Amino acid sequence: MTTYRVGYIVGSLSQKSINRILSKALIRLAPPELEFAEVPIKDLPLYNHDYDADYPPEGRALKDAIAAVDAVLFVTPEYNRSIPGALKNAIDWASRPWGDNSFTHKPSAVIGASPGKIGTAVAQQSLRSVLGFCNSPQMNSPEAYIQYHPDVFTEDGEVLDENTARFLRNYMAEFGVHVARVLTVLPPQR
Ligand SMILES: Cc1cc2nc3c(=O)[nH]c(=O)nc-3n(C[C@H](O)[C@H](O)[C@H](O)COP(=O)(O)O)c2cc1C
Repeated sequence: MTTYRVGYIVGSLSQKSINRILSKALIRLAPPELEFAEVPIKDLPLYNHDYDADYPPEGRALKDAIAAVDAVLFVTPEYNRSIPGALKNAIDWASRPWGDNSFTHKPSAVIGASPGKIGTAVAQQSLRSVLGFCNSPQMNSPEAYIQYHPDVFTEDGEVLDENTARFLRNYMAEFGVHVARVLTVLPPQR
């Protein structure tokens, strides 16, 4: 069995984040060929291109963490119908310096949870646009717009509703297929 390393980025910095809970659920339900490591974003300064000549340790750590994984899974809230600034800041750091974009040919998928019925759909469209520009081959389908109910997820990411668990398990299985397909055509350059 070929295994793939997945870096997951939680777009929320909140300690009580429902998207962090969702990320735990996704890891629990993922197929065995996927191994997970968080790509942390909370300590990054705000990016500007003056840093490009000499990235600070936080920026280098982010790029090293993405370089060390085969794929990236974004688990993000929706803020004001877009992605949180902290997530956009992290993507900006990883996409630079010019000519050293960490997302080039790096397979990715996008998912998110919100208490509302739209379930981060608008934020995900925004994120897809950003990742498209960053040349990351994204999983197109299935899409996953999760309306978060506290009685469905435990804080540890156990999913108590079987329909939701089946949906998320299938999402992760499809992500595994997507990662394998992309890396077959575009082997990682390390
Ligand atoms: C600044 C801000 C903007 C928000 N904008 C939206 C929004 O556009 N759509 C939405 O569904 N929820 C929105 N919410 C509610 C979030 O979905 C909710 O706070 C959610 O718990 C955030 O995810 P997290 O718990 O993973 O941080 C917003 C929350 C904040 C703090």
